[in-house]
Parts: sequence; structure tokens; C-alpha cells
Amino acid sequence: MTHTHSQGRKKISIIGAGNIGGELASLIARTELADVVLLDIPEKEGLCKGKALDLEQNGTILGYDCRITGTANYKDTAGSDVVVITAGVPRKPGMSRDDLLSINLKIMRSVAANLKDNCPGAFVIVISNPLDAMVYECAKVGGFAKNMVCGMAGVLDSARMQLFLAQELGVSVKDVRAMVLGGHGDTMVPVTSYCTVNGVPIKSFIAADRLAAIVSRTANGGGEIVKLMGTSAYYAPATAAVAMAASYLKDQKRLLPAAAYCNGEFGISDLYIGVPTVIGKGGIEKVVEITLTDDEKAMLNKSVAAVRELVDAGAKL
Ligand code: APR
Repeated sequence: MTHTHSQGRKKISIIGAGNIGGELASLIARTELADVVLLDIPEKEGLCKGKALDLEQNGTILGYDCRITGTANYKDTAGSDVVVITAGVPRKPGMSRDDLLSINLKIMRSVAANLKDNCPGAFVIVISNPLDAMVYECAKVGGFAKNMVCGMAGVLDSARMQLFLAQELGVSVKDVRAMVLGGHGDTMVPVTSYCTVNGVPIKSFIAADRLAAIVSRTANGGGEIVKLMGTSAYYAPATAAVAMAASYLKDQKRLLPAAAYCNGEFGISDLYIGVPTVIGKGGIEKVVEITLTDDEKAMLNKSVAAVRELVDAGAKL
């Protein structure tokens, strides 16, 4: 076997070396979190190898030690501690994430089957959309333990909400905390009762109509960028997934929203959807059942129904 990483370092494989995949590799390298394998389809092997070489050369200027391997061969992913899946097509203007279901589902099935053979013990973070349905399929086809597969959406959606709140209030983004739960789509649930500025509940700072506008902008946060760029966001999505990977690899036990398996929590069963989790060396170590207001509960139930509908539609494809 070719050694794709230093034996003394962790290894993260990125499936899909496009916009998010490239930014992920760059961030992981800069933070020396792990060595990186960038994998894409055979037609894009050159792109993977080129990005890998460019990033390794970048390390001589920035001063990081990181081995980055570009490949189209899943054997190179063997022994990965973490796998981040970005494979799939992104949205174009006017599309919803759900419009990507049939094409990305097929891609996810092939990716997960390959990972099953090569990285059965990895902590898997899915980014491909429609997110919650992709996580479900990945877990099913890949046969991963339920606590070892999750989806990145909540950290990103929360980051978007934090930015909008910080701008509205004229305070530092460092002090604003927000949590967005539910499915990564139009039905997402910005949990305003837990939004704070350094611990102070947001409601004491902001008028209800302004908060409602921010909630709505958050739910459309991805679409706003797709409309501007013609493709979907990649800087913040990559950073969000790296935060989750770091919490696992370093056993930080951060409390982060993630699309995780629910087995009765919040009254949700047999579904992966955005909930507060603790991520540590055991993967998704816990789903934290916070108290929600009646409105938030109703929104979450609606979101659960939408995700379930999508998962059922996927099962028929
Ligand atoms: N195996 C591996 N890689 C694949 C496969 C596959 N079967 N099918 C497609 N890919 C690769 C593409 O070749 C492309 O390089 O996935 C990569 C996706 O990159 P981009 O098109 O740049 O898309 P990106 O913006 O990175 O988004 C990826 O994440 O946020 C979601 O909605 C977004 O589903 C999309 C995904």
C-alpha cells in the first residue's frame, strides 16, 4: 500500500475535490489537523493531484507540515480517521436543495459503498445536499455505526444567523451565539430562544420584526449566495465541517448542531436531522435534548415531516 499519510498523524479523506473539497484541504493543511487525501471521479484525477501539489507547495510558504494526496482510487483512503463527503452537484440559481435529490443520491450510493470497503471505522461528515437525506443514505449504504456518521448544516446555518445578528446589533461576531436546528432547507429552525450576545438573550436587544427578518434571511442564507455566485457557498461550509472534525479528532466534546441520528429524542425516531450534539472521540456522543418553545417545537415537527418525505422519496429512486 502506498503511504498517503505520515504514520504519526491523523488522516482525513475528502470525497469530492471541488469548491468545498479544495477549501477543506487548504484549511486542514493550514491548521495541521491531519494529512489529507483528496478523491474525485477518475475524470478529475488530474484536478485532485494538481490541487494536492499546489497545497503542498503552499505549505513551504506558510510553513505547515501536511501530506496531501490527490487520487481517484479509494484504496488511498484506507485507514482514514475522518471522511468528509462533498461529492455531488451543487445548486444553480432557482434550485432548491431538494432538486438535487435524484442525481446526488446515486452519487452518494456509490461513494458510501466504496467507503464501506475502505474506511469502515471512520467518523463520516456529509456535506452533499439535500443534506439530511444524504446522511441517511450514507449511513444505510455505508453500514456505519449510527454515532459515526453525521451531516454538516447546523454549524453553517448558525454561523449565517450569527453574522446577520451581529451586523444588525453592531456587535462583534465573536459574542453572538445562535443555534439552528432541523433539516438543512426551507424548514430549518433558528432557535431564537437560545440566541445570546455573550450570554444575554437576544430578545432584549432586538425588535420582533427585525428578528423575524433575520430568521427568514438565515433560512434563505444558502440561496442568497447561490443567486449571487451561480453556485453554492464553500468557505464557511468547509470551516464548519473542519470544526466538527477537530472536535472528534481532539475529543473536544463541543456542543454543535449536526444532522445526527435520532432515536426518540425530540420525539423523532429513525431519522438524521439537525439537533444539538456533543462531538468527541466517540463520534456523536450525545444528542442534547434542549427545551424548545411551543413555536419552535411546531417548526421542528414540520421540518421532520419534510425530511421524512424526502427520505421516503429517495427510497423509491
Ligand atoms: N465520487 C467522487 N466525487 C464526485 C462524484 C463521485 N461519484 N460525483 C461528483 N463528484 C465530485 C465532482 O466531480 C466535483 O469535483 O464532487 C465535486 C463537487 O464539487 P463542486 O461541483 O465544486 O460542488 P461544491 O460547491 O463543492 O458542493 C458539493 O456540497 O453543499 C453541497 O450542494 C452542495 O451537493 C453539493 C456539494
